Amino acid sequence: MAVGAAQHLGRILLVVTGDTADALESRRGRGGDSTGLRIMTMTSTVAYAVDAGVRMPIPPGVVAVPGASLASDGEDLHVWFSGVSAEGHRRLHHAVSADSGATWSPPNTVVGLEPLAGQGLSPSVLRRRDGWLMWYVSHDNRGRRVFVARSVGGLVWQRLGAALDRGEPGSADADGVDCPAVVGTADGILVMACGAGSSRSVAAAVSRDGVTWRKLGPIHHRRLTGPDSRCIWYPVWLPNGPDTADLLYAGQDDRGRWSFLTTGRVDLAALATRPSPLPLATAVDTAITHIRSAVTADYLAEPDYHRPALVYRSPDGRVEQLRPSTSPVFAVRDGHGHPAGVVKLGRDRASAEREFSGLQTLARFYPVPAATLHYRQGRAALVMEHLDGVPLAGLAAADPNRFETVLGDIADHLATAAQNNLMPACDLDGPPDHTEETPAVLAAWAAELVARLRP
Ligand SMILES: Nc1ncnc2c1ncn2[C@@H]1O[C@H](COP(=O)(O)OP(=O)(O)OP(=O)(O)O)[C@@H](O)[C@H]1O
Ligand SMILES: [Mg+2]
Repeated sequence: MAVGAAQHLGRILLVVTGDTADALESRRGRGGDSTGLRIMTMTSTVAYAVDAGVRMPIPPGVVAVPGASLASDGEDLHVWFSGVSAEGHRRLHHAVSADSGATWSPPNTVVGLEPLAGQGLSPSVLRRRDGWLMWYVSHDNRGRRVFVARSVGGLVWQRLGAALDRGEPGSADADGVDCPAVVGTADGILVMACGAGSSRSVAAAVSRDGVTWRKLGPIHHRRLTGPDSRCIWYPVWLPNGPDTADLLYAGQDDRGRWSFLTTGRVDLAALATRPSPLPLATAVDTAITHIRSAVTADYLAEPDYHRPALVYRSPDGRVEQLRPSTSPVFAVRDGHGHPAGVVKLGRDRASAEREFSGLQTLARFYPVPAATLHYRQGRAALVMEHLDGVPLAGLAAADPNRFETVLGDIADHLATAAQNNLMPACDLDGPPDHTEETPAVLAAWAAELVARLRP
């Protein structure tokens, strides 16, 4: 299952394969077709409604089509898709339509990307000034990676090498990166969305040339319950402005059912300025394994703030719980006793992921600790760089001027962040989640404090 999308001569077209066709069909109450490749027109961008579509010709002997990409080039519409033969061989094919997808040229097998056995080849193709760029997936025994190739005409390709590698152990994409989807902004920044194997969510990366990429970490997470609680996969960009695109994706629920979903509009320029996630140190990965197995429930319970709370310390001194805290937070040291990071388990996976997204968004307006997410066995933890500092409460008595400067600074930064980020509650999808409003609440609180502290 995979989807590609393109804007072509004023229409929005989708290419849909396998289970995605099933998911779209079942949404309209009809039976699906698990091997077909279809070009559908989006009839409403508000409801993401699509028509029944046109079946694409697939080469004889192809029994499954696991991936496809659609691109518009002047009057022509191009499709690239991977076909699997009964013997399990995967090849990439190319076809062109001169009538907006109604009829297609017989597909040709592309040249230059003759795959080794087992390659995924989930392609994403983008038109550049001097030809085409394609990102595709290949896997070895450790998992999948994204590679890049270049072509002048779309049929003969030249490999340019690896574009996106797997992450370090414990990271969101440690088990591999899959199903890339690349979109360009008006000033030439490329943004890749892809499936991250360990978090089973959508991660992103940014590039100028399409070959060298900077990872941004996960950008869209699974919900705890609902249609995408098990997995978020097959991202597709649908550009709708010079710097914005809707992100469409396939979500899988706990019972294995797929749905076609969207995050809505993504500000690509803002996304591209997000900081790189904190590299995940081995000491932190090891410490999280220790925390998960050795720290008992007494230390993990939400404390009664009127009494001193339990503080966990590992026998080797490398893990020490930080108090006061509502959720369990631990400082981690490396073998030399130097701070290696701070691990915050949060209340559940979603709260760790939400705090990570919040930090990455806030970084445009406010200095935040470098952070990343750690995943193992479906559980997530937020990992931050360790910040040295003095408690603000202590500063109030020792250095009132600095205390006031710090508060004023916090108020200014948070007010800027709130002005730039808050959206009216009526624009929200579903019940309001106040987590993202924390900056506004804190800004008002800090401003009030500053006002009251003035003589
Ligand atoms: N990056 C960091 N570096 C150093 N110390 C930290 C860091 N993050 C948190 N701490 C310490 O851990 C304590 C608990 O952290 P925090 O307040 O973020 O967790 P929490 O109370 O569980 O969550 P929340 O306040 O979001 O409900 C803080 O008071 C602080 O002293
Ligand atoms: Mg706290």
